[in-house]
Amino acid sequence: MFLKNLKLAQKFTALLIAIFLMGTAMSGIALAKVLDYSSQEMVSNKALMLMETMNSVRHYTSTEINPELVDRLDIEFLPETVPAYSAREVFEHLRTSEGYQSFFYKEAVVNPTNPRDKADDFEFGLIEGFRRRESLDEINGFRNTLSGDVYYIARPISMTEQSCLQCHGVPSDAPATMIAQYGDRNGFGWKLGAIIGAQVISVPADDVRQDARQSFVMIMGIVAIAFATAIFLVNLWLKQFVIRPINKMAQVAEAVSTGDMEAEFEVTTKDEVGRLAEAFQRMKLSLSLAMSRLERYRMGQSDQKGDR
Ligand code: HEC
Repeated sequence: MFLKNLKLAQKFTALLIAIFLMGTAMSGIALAKVLDYSSQEMVSNKALMLMETMNSVRHYTSTEINPELVDRLDIEFLPETVPAYSAREVFEHLRTSEGYQSFFYKEAVVNPTNPRDKADDFEFGLIEGFRRRESLDEINGFRNTLSGDVYYIARPISMTEQSCLQCHGVPSDAPATMIAQYGDRNGFGWKLGAIIGAQVISVPADDVRQDARQSFVMIMGIVAIAFATAIFLVNLWLKQFVIRPINKMAQVAEAVSTGDMEAEFEVTTKDEVGRLAEAFQRMKLSLSLAMSRLERYRMGQSDQKGDR
């Protein structure tokens, strides 16, 4: 295996780099998921709140405004009494405020009374989706538009009340003043129980996504710096406390093996490396003792030889 040929520091660096790559990949994926989720949560909260606000405007119009003005219907038709109209107008006013230009609200209908409510291709697709699956009560998601990325929420609009048919059933039932204003071609023929359109709200998602991207880069940068520092420090310590003392011991052992009994194993720490040095030092002492004993023995032998 190629690891065998590597030096200790290189082995550790290889291990740490492997951990680093795996760690950053895994934390990167997790972080991206979390940031994606939280940015979606943020825009969807905004969209939901506006959607509920618009529904309150609709409710206010039909319960407070409409009853007050219904008598005027014979003289003139006031679109202000129509919930769909007041919701759209309120939202159009909101759009004139700073920072709300790319927000959008529409009661998109396949066959609308007011042409500005005509469903475009995308909205038509949503309506088709609701028609295919009646149980579906919301479709949401991100989409790319001319004004950037947006998050949208769509809910089906269905004809649930008989009273609506007065103005959206057959033209002959509708107030003459309304026909005079809107004509008798559009916004009629809606069927009770049918899904006739979709209430769609979109809020810009560019900013939140940008923020999420920035957080991602920043956090991953911090993780990378932390790992790089760890690799650097581990190498430094390894050199200081393991590699350098071991190299020194090797040198001394080399010297001792060639007969230099003056060379000393230095014990500088109390850890495993220090204990090893201590053991070597003792071994050197016993070795030199054994050698001098051997020397003396040999001397004795030659003395005896000389005596004879
Ligand atoms: C008095 C007549 C009248 C009645 C009743 C009425 N509408 Fe309307 N409706 C209108 C008019 C007029 C418009 C167009 C307003 C505008 O200019 O935006 C409209 C618009 C709408 C729109 C927006 C799409 C479009 O056609 O422009 C929806 C959705 C809608 N009505 C649903 C309903 C529902 C649901 C009911 C029953 C709860 C209902 N309407 C009852 C007159 C009426």
